[in-house]
Order: sequence, then C-alpha cells, then structure tokens
Amino acid sequence: MALHTVCGEGELAVGEKKAIKAAGEHIIVFHLEDGFYATQARCTHLFKSMTNGKIIDDRLVQCPLHRAQFNIRTGEVERWANFPPGVQLLNVVRAEKALKTYAVSVVEGEVKVEVLEPATA
Ligand code: FES
Repeated sequence: MALHTVCGEGELAVGEKKAIKAAGEHIIVFHLEDGFYATQARCTHLFKSMTNGKIIDDRLVQCPLHRAQFNIRTGEVERWANFPPGVQLLNVVRAEKALKTYAVSVVEGEVKVEVLEPATA
C-alpha cells in the first residue's frame, strides 16, 4: 500500500470532489461533512467516468449517464441504472455492483489516499 497525496486539506471544500490517478487507478476523492472518502472513478454499470457525477445529500454520487447512485462512504449501490426508460433491459446483463472504495487520511494537512501499488517484476 502507498499513500498518494490528493491536495491540501483546505483545497477541497465540503461538497466538492477531485479526480486523481494513482498507481494506475482512476479515483475520485470526495469531501463530505464528516470527512474525506474515495471511490473508483468509473461507474460499475457501463464504466462512465463519474468525475462529473452529482453529489446528492452529502451521501450519494450519481452517474451522469444512466443515473445509478452509489453510497460514497461504502461504495454500495443505492439505486441502479434507471435512465433513460428502457435501460432496465440492459440491466439484465449488467447486474448491480458496488464501487471499490479507498481509505483516505489527512496527514500533516494533506489529504492522502491509500492505493495498492501494482506488483513489479
Ligand atoms: S454507466 Fe453509470 S449508470 Fe450506466
């Protein structure tokens, strides 16, 4: 595991998010009212980037493509893809899948995300 610096603690206001790439993984770091959280950036439905996803009620991130909603703190699906009407047909082959989450800490005023480094030969 390695800690990757995201930004200074004061650079990301509550309700904002920041996309980063660390150890080859695309990650979004969220600042919610009770702290910082991180999830994989790509939606598990059809892999749309959620960099422009909407944060709802200090709790959920909504995918901009088919509006799946994920709990930012746990990664769990709270509402699966539901837009436009008819996308449910696609869901037969795209079962609900939670987002991967990452541990985030604040070390000496810097927000850090913990990512497993890829194995080296
Ligand atoms: S790609 Fe995210 S809900 Fe379909």
